[in-house]
Amino acid sequence: MSEKGDIINLTLNRDSNTFVRVHPHGATVIAWQWKGKELLFVSKQAVFDNKKAIRGGIPVVFPNFGPWELGPQHGFARTSKWKVEKEPVADKDGNVTAVLSLEDDDITRALWDYRFKLTYTLTLSEDSFGMKFQVENKDNKPFDFTCLLHTYFRTSDVVKTDVLGLGNLQYIDKVKGGQTFQQVDDPIIVEENVDRIYLNTPNEILIKDKEDGTTVKLTKDNFPEIVLWNPWKEKAAAMGDFGDEEYPNMICVEAGYVHKPYTLQPGSVFEASQTLTVV
Ligand code: BG6
Repeated sequence: MSEKGDIINLTLNRDSNTFVRVHPHGATVIAWQWKGKELLFVSKQAVFDNKKAIRGGIPVVFPNFGPWELGPQHGFARTSKWKVEKEPVADKDGNVTAVLSLEDDDITRALWDYRFKLTYTLTLSEDSFGMKFQVENKDNKPFDFTCLLHTYFRTSDVVKTDVLGLGNLQYIDKVKGGQTFQQVDDPIIVEENVDRIYLNTPNEILIKDKEDGTTVKLTKDNFPEIVLWNPWKEKAAAMGDFGDEEYPNMICVEAGYVHKPYTLQPGSVFEASQTLTVV
């Protein structure tokens, strides 16, 4: 089997140029093509060895965003093999849904000793792609986690891309030692290394590629924060799985529950979602 052998494909029956591809390694969405146009960025240097996190698409971050004292940065979900709970099926309107899941095992419990189940429901429609992320506490004790959908949007040129909807918000600037600032400009145009956590964000953000005229609307629920990230030239060059000249062609706009951990009680389910729509 090739390294990409068991990819899950969600394809619209009425338009085979509109599809989503998901790698079971991390349940990482590695393509969302809309009418023949790829809207997500995956690095040409991305490694598909079923070990390393895939550089691009939509990696799932759980149970920890950022550096983690118990395990790898951004947690183990993006480097675990997920199960296909439901193969892609079209409903009567032609929308295609697939469900993936991840449960604790010896490897996850060695890092983080809790019983849990993640359920990730992906739905592809004509102009939109939705992701519902659920965490179930299957243990008899509460646990804390942070989580995020690390979406890499493809851009013709990041300096000609507007991110709209984050004006007047406070953000934590990870490039500036974690200081808090107030966002003034809206739209934001990224022209340097940016790594920020925007707080109390609205549930609608626009990513507007002014060069090719494509606008994607990100709508979300129960993900209070948006992380905005572009490594820019030097940091891109320092990453082995990211091409030196690729940073103008991506912007990460990441919906997450990351500022404070969420405490989930035994038997309870946390649910959050995002939908990306071409508008
Ligand atoms: C972002 C973080 O979400 O992910 C950045 O805010 C980090 O700090 C980036 O550099 C990429 O992380 P990784 O582990 O995939 O290289």
